[in-house]
This record gives sequence, C-alpha cells and structure tokens, in this order.
Amino acid sequence: MPNSFTDILQNSKQLFDSFFTSYTPNLFSPRTRITDACLYSLEAGGKRVRPIFVINSFYDSNELPNSISEVSNHSVFLASLAVECIHTYSLIHDDLPAMDNDDTRRGKPTCHKQFDEATAILAGDTLNSLSFYLLSLMDTNDPHLIRDSIQTLHKGAGMAGMIQGQMEDIEEEKNPSLTNRESKLHSIHEKKTGALIESSFLLGNRLRLDWKERKSVLSSYAKEIGLLFQITDDILDVEGNFEELGKTPGKDAKAGKLTYPSLFGMEKAKSLRKESVDKAISLAEQLPSLNHEFFLGLPKYIAERKN
Ligand code: IPE
Ligand code: IPE
Ligand code: MG
Ligand code: MG
Ligand code: MG
Repeated sequence: MPNSFTDILQNSKQLFDSFFTSYTPNLFSPRTRITDACLYSLEAGGKRVRPIFVINSFYDSNELPNSISEVSNHSVFLASLAVECIHTYSLIHDDLPAMDNDDTRRGKPTCHKQFDEATAILAGDTLNSLSFYLLSLMDTNDPHLIRDSIQTLHKGAGMAGMIQGQMEDIEEEKNPSLTNRESKLHSIHEKKTGALIESSFLLGNRLRLDWKERKSVLSSYAKEIGLLFQITDDILDVEGNFEELGKTPGKDAKAGKLTYPSLFGMEKAKSLRKESVDKAISLAEQLPSLNHEFFLGLPKYIAERKN
C-alpha cells in the first residue's frame, strides 16, 4: 500500500502505463500513417501528470490498486487516457510552425518534423476527437456521468479553455498588449494550461459517489496547480537544459512570449511560484477526507520538477 507522495506518484504512473500498453494496440488499429503519428507522439513519453491527476482524484491513496489486473471497471483509466490524448494533441499543434515552431518534444523530433505538417495536423485532430470517444466508453450506471464528463473535458480543452488560451498566447506574441499585462498573463496561463489540468482533477472526481461534496475546493486547488504548472514551465524555459526538458529551452524569449520571467524578472517569478505553492498547499488542507499525501505533496513536486 503506497503512503508517501513519491510512492503514490510512481504507483499511479505505473497503473496508467500498464493500461496504456494493453489498451492502445487495439485502439490504434489498423496501423496507418495517422495512427503511427498518434502513437509516435503518445509513446514519446511525457510525465503523464494529467492522467495521474485523474487517477488520484478518483482513488484515495489507500485504495490505489497495486496493478491494473486488480481493476474491474476501467472508467478512470479511459478518462485518464482521454486527457493524455487531448493534451498530446495540444502539444503536436503547439509545436507547429504556425504556432511555436518547435523541433523537439519529449526528447524526440516533433510530430511535424518526424512526419510532415499535414500529418501532424491530422494526428492532432485524431487525438482530439478520440478523447471524447474514450469518455463515451466509460462503464457506468449513472445516467449523467458521460454527459458531465464530456462537458468537463470540453470546458477545459475547448473554445473557452485551452484553445482560447492558446489563441491569446499567440495574439500576445504577435501584438503585445500595452496595459494590464499582469492580468493578461494570468488569464493566458489559466486557460492554456490550467483549464485542462482542472478538467483532469474533475473527471476523476466525477467518478466518485461523493463527487459533489469535493468539487468546489478541488476545483480551486486544481486551478492553482494549473497556474503553478505553467509558471514553472516558463521558468524552465529560461533555466532548463535540453537533456532534462526534452524540448528546446530559450524559445519563449526568442519568440517574445509573455511569461512570468519576461514580465516580472526571474527573482519575482520564483517568489510568485512559491506563493502559488503555499496557496495550493492550504487548499489541499481544506480538501475533505482524501488522499492528503498526494494533494499536499503535489505542489512542491510541480514547482521543483526539472522537465
Ligand atoms: C507541456 O506539458 C505543455 C504545458 C502545458 C506546459 P507537460 O510538461 O505536461 O508535458 P509532457 O506531457 O510531460 O511532455
Ligand atoms: C503550451 O504552453 C500550452 C499548451 C496548451 C500546449 P507552451 O507553449 O509554453 O508549452 P511548451 O513549453 O511548448 O511545452
Ligand atoms: Mg505555446
Ligand atoms: Mg510551446
Ligand atoms: Mg513553455
């Protein structure tokens, strides 16, 4: 039975990895150029934090199964694969020449470099629609669960969430606003990264019988984790190295992106990161009856990560 944050993190990642390995061969069958491109980007790795958020918002830490073979209902894993698919689509499109124009991702050539731009666009489209299909496969007696889950994912990834955040990020790069830059930056990060992270927590939570009681504070906690995640991503773009990051550092400054270090300077960016860690921890303390080791340990892990 896992008890430390690191154990829980490893255990839930292993569960996701086993599900992924057993489930994806049939899902991406037959193998075509498109399914090859989807699997290329999905299998390149990544931390799998969003699936880990889904899993740990569903299971209390003392209930986390030791292995996937102990699990009879795979709904939480279908939801975790759904968020990883939609996240991977967002990375494939984020890297395209028309967006951030990146050559490496997850330590490998980006999808459009390995294949070509048309294939990368279509692989992203495939993963986007696939994620909603995966939610439709959840096994449930609750007549509203699939509807609610589809709406939650759409809210995080769609036109009011990640896509709007990506639009504002690109607009800001092309035509920087002259006033209210701080609130603009907050709004970009909340939407482009925070919204899908919030959906991940809420999807796992929605599978629980007591989901209503936890939703509001979990949602505030998840929003803070989302902001913290992107502040850290901005800092790593300045201070990280290619080997650890698996993507090229220094791209934000070159592109003139509005980021925490570019707006506030590194020292203040780091103190804002620390404030965000503290806020997330105090929200974790308010979460009722669950998985405190995971929720309390997560903010530091996010802030101290090297990739
Ligand atoms: C990168 O996300 C894009 C952001 C939203 C900052 P991750 O840092 O989770 O990337 P992977 O999935 O581990 O590659
Ligand atoms: C990405 O933000 C947010 C997404 C929705 C993909 P970034 O553009 O900063 O992510 P990286 O640094 O390329 O991973
Ligand atoms: Mg980007
Ligand atoms: Mg990018
Ligand atoms: Mg970045």
